[in-house]
Parts: sequence; structure tokens; C-alpha cells
Amino acid sequence: TPAPASTLVIFGASGDLTKRLLMPALYNLAREKGLDPEFRIIGVDHVERSEEEFRTYLTDSMHALVKEGGGEFEATSLDAEAWDWIATRVGYLTGDFEDPKTYRRLGERLAGSAKAGGQANAVFYLATAPRFFGTVIEHLGTAGLTQETDQGFRRIVVEKPFGTDLASAQALNRGILKVADESQLYRIDHFLGKETVQNIMVLRFANGIFEPIWNRDHIDHVQITAAETVGVEGRGGFYDATGALRDMVPNHMFQLLAMTAMEAPNSFDADAVRTEKAKVIEAVRRWSPEEAIENSVRGQYDAGKVRGRPVKSYRQEPDVSPKSDTETYVALKLMIDNWRWSGVPFYIRTGKSMAARRTEIAIQFKQTPDILFRGTPNGRLAPNVIVFRIQPKEGVSLRFAAKVPGRTVRLGEVNMDFRYSDYFEAEPTTGYETLIYDCLIGDPTLFQRADNIEAGWAAVQPFLDAWAAGKNNVHLYRSGGSGPSEADALMKRDGRGWLPLDADAG
Ligand code: BG6
Repeated sequence: TPAPASTLVIFGASGDLTKRLLMPALYNLAREKGLDPEFRIIGVDHVERSEEEFRTYLTDSMHALVKEGGGEFEATSLDAEAWDWIATRVGYLTGDFEDPKTYRRLGERLAGSAKAGGQANAVFYLATAPRFFGTVIEHLGTAGLTQETDQGFRRIVVEKPFGTDLASAQALNRGILKVADESQLYRIDHFLGKETVQNIMVLRFANGIFEPIWNRDHIDHVQITAAETVGVEGRGGFYDATGALRDMVPNHMFQLLAMTAMEAPNSFDADAVRTEKAKVIEAVRRWSPEEAIENSVRGQYDAGKVRGRPVKSYRQEPDVSPKSDTETYVALKLMIDNWRWSGVPFYIRTGKSMAARRTEIAIQFKQTPDILFRGTPNGRLAPNVIVFRIQPKEGVSLRFAAKVPGRTVRLGEVNMDFRYSDYFEAEPTTGYETLIYDCLIGDPTLFQRADNIEAGWAAVQPFLDAWAAGKNNVHLYRSGGSGPSEADALMKRDGRGWLPLDADAG
């Protein structure tokens, strides 16, 4: 069913996110007939443009995305009817985000369409540089635009990064909550738009076999990997001030951790789910400064070869300081201090310019007693591992031991492999379709509440503080490898090892 009629106001309409993800997602929604005939878009940006010019710009961008291929938008051609449907609903407003006039004019537009018998529902989407988040929302509030009435809802979508540490995230939340209610806020983490991330809950809670063993009695440790083959891709300015920890951990990696480790919520009600997620992230142990250093490894990519192609070092990237010590890789050991997970380490690693693009969660079970097999060749059993593959080749695999055929008992390792694509057909999506649709229908389950965001920052703050005190140097790692050797040592110290990161083909 189509989402209720509303106007989507996009701040930052000329930016990268709008053309690369939002418009393709809206186009996909139009193809699925997920939008109301009275749906409207108003782009807001400081670039001087007429509405006609803005529409042409978007149409050209869509054609370029299809032609280039390889991005999140996997379409091989543009369905003219669906795109026209969207394009005819696009308007534009030139305006400075810091100028109250922009909001007055926006208000007139929204009121105008409501008076003309249209709807008054509006979603304000902040696709701007993060420094404008607070400003735009404050202006919206002052102009009275966040006020909900019987005639219409008012919702605000805030992109990441939401703050740069705990204090700034708290300050941003405080500012926003002065002019809008928590129920109007949709803080995005695009990992939650991924089918396979949502599916972790189904696997865990719709199947009888996992939950009874999903705890410290049976699980030895958990590994969460988000490896990328890309480098910083023209985002050097943003990235050099941010680094891998802030960019990936308190948000995306913690979503994966929360989905894996949270207790079953009482229902799929948005707050029931978000409460359980907040609880498990709040239980992540706050290391002391010394422990934070011991339990973290920072890396930065050096030159190398990724998928057979030569790659420059991070320090040679545009807009990156040639002396930069920003991390492009981070590995952490975390402990979750609650009843279910006490004593089970969660190792997480994420990095750019690595051997393979791989996002996965591996649950490693405890070793069985090896009494029976001690004398046999290969007598050391490899422990059972369940891997949730988030991307690519979405699926689940289970590693277990089997007898190698023959008269003597010899152990072999085998994999039971489930691939989504073998069972389900799915149209390619950017992940933003679900998120935009959910916001339009008023379902915040897949969005972050203020406490979810703050819990994430609070859990990584000890690392940020310890590193800021200059105590954790970055280790160079070869592009196209599996990260710095210090990260292997972090595991080895505990008698464990990362699952191998087999290189993607060139
Ligand atoms: C973004 C980060 O939020 O997520 C990027 O800013 C990162 O640095 C990206 O590359 C990864 O998302 P995905 O969907 O490509 O796995």
C-alpha cells in the first residue's frame, strides 16, 4: 500500500547523497507504487537553480548512475514512466540554511499546497553536511514548521554522522529535542535498511535451534567484520577528520553487534526493539585508558594492490594530510557485561582498502572435549562456526566436522551453506527504500532513538579518549591485505584468530 501523501523536503538537494541514494530509492519506491499520487519533493539548497534546472540535473544524474553502474543503484536501465512520475513531483527552493527567510518561504510553500486542498504532512530530510544538522532543525522550529497539527505530521530525518563523540551527540540531541519531540525524529543508520541485517532478528527469534545455545555456556567468542576494498574515494576531507572508528563503529558495527547480542524484545514495537538494543550497547564494558589501548589496534593503508589494481597510500589521497595519523582500520576487543554474554569477547574489525569486501558476523562455539579423537590424524577439531554473511553473497553458513571417508577415522571440516539468492528473488535496492517508506508511514523501528546513539558513543569514548592522549599509534598495513599484523596479535594473545579474509577476484 502506498505511504500517506506527504511532502519530502530535502535539505542538501545538490549534494552527493541526494543524487546517489535518495533519488534512486524514491524512483524504486515509485516503481513499486509505494508512494501516494499526492507525494511531493522540495529540494532546498544554496545553489541558484530554477525548478526546471533542478529536474534536469536530477534526470541527468540518474542517467549517469545507470551508465556508470557499480554503485548501490544497480539498475541497468531507467524506467521512463516511473522516473517521470517522480520528476513531475519535484520542486526546488534556493536558500541559505542559515537564513530565516529560507524557512519562511518553505513554510509558505507547505501552507500553500495544504490550502489548495493538498496535504500538510511533511518530512524534512537532512542530507546536508553534518555541521548544519542542528542549525536547520533549530530554524525549522523557530519558523513553526516542526509543529504537528490535525492536518498533518511533521517528521525529521537526520543522517549520520550524528555528532563526533558523546558530548557533541548529547548536545545535538538536546538542541533538536527543544524544537521537536523524540517521536518526530528519524535518525538514520543505513545498515538497518539492509535486508540481511534485519534478517538477523528473524534467524535468531523465528527458529528454535539458535536461541538455546546463544549464550556464554556455548559460545566462545563473536567476530564482526566490515572489510571494504574501496579507499576514501574523494571523501578525504571528511574522512581525515573522522577515521574508521567514528565512521563505522558506534553506528554500523554496533547495529550488527546489537542485532546479534540483544535479548528478544517483547514485540516488534519500535520502542520494544530499540530498548533492547540500547540495553545491550549500554552493557559494553567501558575500558580504563590502559585497557582501551591494550584492546584496540589502529591501522592506516599503505600502497598496495587491491583486486589486482595498484593503489596509493592513504596519505597520498586528495584532501588528506601527508602526515595524517587518522586510522582507516580499527580492531577492537569488547566485553558485554550482562548475564548472557559475561566472559564472551566480541572482536570487531573494519577497514578500507583491504583484500575483500566482506561484512559478516561469525559466532564461534566452544570446542567439544577431544577425548575420542585425540589419537586420530587431524585430531584437533576446528570449532563450529555460524557465519551470517551480510554482504556480498548474503547467506548463512555453518562449519562442522565430518568423517573423511575411509577405514580409519579422520576428521574433515565441511560447510553447510545457505544463500539467499538460491531461495528468494529480490529486486536490487539501495537500502534507503525501506527507510524512507518507514518514515513516511511513521514506523521508527529501524531508526535510532536518542539513547541508542548516545549509548554507541559512550561505548567508544574510552578509545577516543585514550587515542587523543596520543597513546595508540597507527600501524601501516598493505592495501589489499587483511589489516595490520597487530590486529592478529590482539586475537592471538587470547589463543584465537580472525577468520581468513580471502581476496576478492580482480
Ligand atoms: C558509510 C561510511 O556510512 O558506510 C562509509 O561513511 C562506508 O565510509 C559505508 O564505506 C559502508 O556502507 P556499505 O553499505 O557500502 O557497506
